[in-house]
Amino acid sequence: MSHSPFAPGRFLFGGDYNPEQWPREVWLEDIELMKRAKVNTVTIGVFSWAMLEPREGEFDAGWLDDIIALLTDAGVGFFLATPTASPPPWFTIAHPDALPLRADGTPVLHGSRDTYAISAPAYRGAARRVARFLGERYGAHPGLRGWHIHNEYGTIDHGPHAARAFRAWLSEKYGTLENLNDAWYTAFWSQRYDNWEEVLPPQQTQYLHNPAQVVDFKRFCSDEMLAAYGEQVEEIRATGSAAPVTTNFMLPTWNHLEQWAWSDAQDFVSVDHYLDTAGPDGEAHVAYGSDLTRSWAGGPWVLMEQNATGIRVGDRTIVKEPDRMIRNSVGYIARGSQSSLFFQWRAGAAGSEMWHGAMVPHVGGDSRSYEAIVRLGEMLERIEEVAEPPADGRVLEAEIGIVWHAEGWWSLETPHLPNEALDYADEVRATHRSFWRAGLPVDFVRPGGDAQRYRLLVVPALYAMNSDTVAWIEEYVAAGGHVIVSFFSGVVDSSQRVVPGGYPGMLRELLGIRVEEIRPLVEGERLALADGLVGELWSERVHLEGAEATTTYTSGSLAGAPAITRRAHGAGSAVYVSTRLTPESRDALLADVASDLGLRPTVEGAIALGVEAIRRRGAASDYLFLLHHGSAPVRVEGGGVDLVTGAEDAFTLEPGGVAVIREAAAAWSITAATGV
Ligand code: GLA
Repeated sequence: MSHSPFAPGRFLFGGDYNPEQWPREVWLEDIELMKRAKVNTVTIGVFSWAMLEPREGEFDAGWLDDIIALLTDAGVGFFLATPTASPPPWFTIAHPDALPLRADGTPVLHGSRDTYAISAPAYRGAARRVARFLGERYGAHPGLRGWHIHNEYGTIDHGPHAARAFRAWLSEKYGTLENLNDAWYTAFWSQRYDNWEEVLPPQQTQYLHNPAQVVDFKRFCSDEMLAAYGEQVEEIRATGSAAPVTTNFMLPTWNHLEQWAWSDAQDFVSVDHYLDTAGPDGEAHVAYGSDLTRSWAGGPWVLMEQNATGIRVGDRTIVKEPDRMIRNSVGYIARGSQSSLFFQWRAGAAGSEMWHGAMVPHVGGDSRSYEAIVRLGEMLERIEEVAEPPADGRVLEAEIGIVWHAEGWWSLETPHLPNEALDYADEVRATHRSFWRAGLPVDFVRPGGDAQRYRLLVVPALYAMNSDTVAWIEEYVAAGGHVIVSFFSGVVDSSQRVVPGGYPGMLRELLGIRVEEIRPLVEGERLALADGLVGELWSERVHLEGAEATTTYTSGSLAGAPAITRRAHGAGSAVYVSTRLTPESRDALLADVASDLGLRPTVEGAIALGVEAIRRRGAASDYLFLLHHGSAPVRVEGGGVDLVTGAEDAFTLEPGGVAVIREAAAAWSITAATGV
């Protein structure tokens, strides 16, 4: 990363700001409210294309000049977005060929947002033009903190432009049509291609899609969007602007990008994170989103959006209480975020997101939610020394790595798998949640990444693997590492082709097993294991070929057969779990393995009292973050000063509260406060 948006010694605080939706009197009130809350950063221009370029090639940025001047006078910096996620209506009319087509061939027209075909030359040209315009006009502005390219890349087109570009991508990858036919296994169902023109994106079809085609199309779309992103960066750099560049990823549901490659292409990694659960699982989800993004970034990162006041659960928005908003915001920072930024500054007066939460709600500044924003702004100032990262950028030390790869997700979305209730993101998240519940810090790791720094590597449901990934895991174990592989990993290669002779073909040697049958369980069915653990969803008939069974199935057709196995490799080991453990059983297994390896929680016993403890490394010190999700006060004792309250060494932390302790010593105890 060549540039840094991270103003030394302070956190970025603010959110998406859409002044174009408001009259100028409101701008003045906005500036006053921003100053009161100590807001120092806003993101502008995200969806401003129609205001900025009202007619093709005619720009009008007077309004943007004015708001930038107001912000700058008030000491508020800005991320400037290129507005290319939302082409204006004129674009549809002028370039009907540049609209995205759904898989069934339906064109997607303006009236919402994201109505563009990523591979259409007219779209790419228009996106370059607007990026160049903004770069020339604002690229050297002193208030510019960074470029926010586009918004949440992920609009998929199945039309003729996509087909042309997909063919070019495939021809680059496979060289010949014969290779493609082989990789896609087109002998099945008479799919053999005789001419490149016959090859299409996966369109609406009669029955199941070709799995290899589906995954290649996902890979292609990720690469194609990355190329479009790269062109905008190129335009901006051509204007001489040196400000750092990012694009905002989206969690938890967006699975359109191969985030490791995308992260490499950004000056800093940013993410939009929206909770999907209101209960304690939401707290674990803050940790999950943060750990994933920090890992993609390889260090500090930017939380570009969260919701200030709401949690969308299914079809309703549950109130995110002010204390929780603060606790969650500090939680992201604990795990490496350099910011607390929200979507959005002011709640829209109308439009399809008018009921979305905001830093300033419809009722205005006289509200408990805005007051909480003011409190957060004050708190971020009190903890600002934490924002200075250590020289090596490693803001969090973890000894556990969870392997993450978008291709794992894509391959598990291919049709007609033995149990389609198996969901990649759920599996990865459940693994992370177990470590969260054990109070153990984790990173995510890319296949081929630096695994040696971890004592334990976990591979959840990585159905497709290539031989490099297999060799990487084998080397890790050979060098003394410990790996836990879950069911249905390494079963197919990167062309989604099963490795014959027993599952999981790619990993049989390492694991010392041969799986003869995959045996999904019916909904609600559970299988007891001999050591008291319980499996659900999935089971397998496993034969030992060098491994030992650490526990067995106890009933049914699998009674007595291995359920969990372990093969020692010198100082290292490879464990295989052939069923999906229930949440409690997964917690128990992973906590046991970690404990056997001598891995200790950040603060012993804290999580049982509802306190999440995270140690963030800083330039001058380590900082212990305590987030109290529980319901009774706790007594905190150790050596250091809480930057939030100024308390030293020993204090009581109330439910809902947070502490950020500059540590003088790393030993802490957290106990129930009752009777103290
Ligand atoms: C995304 C987008 C925003 C907004 C929010 C709503 O993250 O980037 O424009 O739509 O979702 O949650």
